[in-house]
Amino acid sequence: MQTVFDFYDQEEIEGYLSEIESMLRKGHNPEKIQASLGIECFEEMLNLAKARMKNEKTGEKLYMGLEDLRFATHQDVADYRASRLRCETIIDVGCGVGLQSIAFAKTCSKVIAIEVDERKARYAEENFKKLGLKNVELIKDEAIKSAKKIKKADIIFCDTERAAEETERSLETLRPNIKELMKAYSKLTKDFCIEIPPQIRDLKIKCEKEYLSIDGKLNRLDLYFGNLAKSEYSAVSLPSKERVEGKTQKSQKKSEKALRYVYEVDEAVVKAGLTSNITPKGCLLYSEERQTLLTSEKHASSPFFTKTYKVLATCDPTQDKITNGLKKSGAGSVVLRAKVKPEEYWSEKKKYETGMTGNKKLYLFVTSKEALIAEIIS
Ligand SMILES: C[S@@+](CC[C@H](N)C(=O)[O-])C[C@H]1O[C@@H](n2cnc3c(N)ncnc32)[C@H](O)[C@@H]1O
Repeated sequence: MQTVFDFYDQEEIEGYLSEIESMLRKGHNPEKIQASLGIECFEEMLNLAKARMKNEKTGEKLYMGLEDLRFATHQDVADYRASRLRCETIIDVGCGVGLQSIAFAKTCSKVIAIEVDERKARYAEENFKKLGLKNVELIKDEAIKSAKKIKKADIIFCDTERAAEETERSLETLRPNIKELMKAYSKLTKDFCIEIPPQIRDLKIKCEKEYLSIDGKLNRLDLYFGNLAKSEYSAVSLPSKERVEGKTQKSQKKSEKALRYVYEVDEAVVKAGLTSNITPKGCLLYSEERQTLLTSEKHASSPFFTKTYKVLATCDPTQDKITNGLKKSGAGSVVLRAKVKPEEYWSEKKKYETGMTGNKKLYLFVTSKEALIAEIIS
């Protein structure tokens, strides 16, 4: 398979990419850009330029297309993993365009990156070259077949890929197949870290299940095996790296009514079933209907609270009562934290905002028992 790197060297490619970027910014259409540059592999070059523009806030200008960017490991996740998996030699199975391998190269003496997709492997190779990485070896081949070529490794990391045709998230359809992968590499080490989609349910595997969030939103699930496993379940909030671990799903005291303060909880903690482990003294579970909320009479804080609200009023969850409550509380605009279908969000919001004369931006939560009007504190 040919890529832009079969026609041009990195310096030429960088030149074309910045020309395309600047023409796109000026509003030129692709046909016009192609006519003016007349280069080989134009579509691929355009895709690389568009991905760069989309990703311009994050440091290094690496080679990846828009689709690669969509599946690329977030920098905070890559760095966190690289620090947790620090060792002598690590294998990065399914390295894609190489973002996780680049992070491993900073904490491990040697990285063996394996990628079966020819184009991605070529991009990874060029990315490693661009960064001048001397401690990354790239194997452009299928991972299970490649196991016998490798003599030594301390940790095997694998970021699996979902099959495009899968209808339900399941372990069996992931690529490469986890069981086969672990069997093929078990002669080297028992220490594996496997990333799988966090939506997979009923995981009955004996390992540490670590849920990762970025800014409170669920991002990844990593399974740790062998000496890497530290607990049954864990959650890590990024970028702060706050971690909680434990045996999961302890039942928790619940309040049907909101108290003076309400808190949103980091999704990684909720998904790991560790909410009770992070609940500060004096806080109770309030709702799990749309998202997990805690409530307390006295102001409490936790590194796993993503938002804190002060309750201004509660009422029966009917339209009239809510409108009344919002008016009395001085609402000008309303942010719905209620169960609303995404396509109905704006019409529902408008329904509540019509006739409001105040100037406060207020938050509306609706549980099956009550509606709650609140202002955000942090
Ligand atoms: C989710 S992507 C990896 C993204 C990468 N960690 C990054 O940060 O850019 C998974 C990769 O695994 C590769 N892959 C899937 N099955 C494989 C196999 N059997 N052997 C080697 N690579 C494989 C896919 O081609 C894909 O690039």
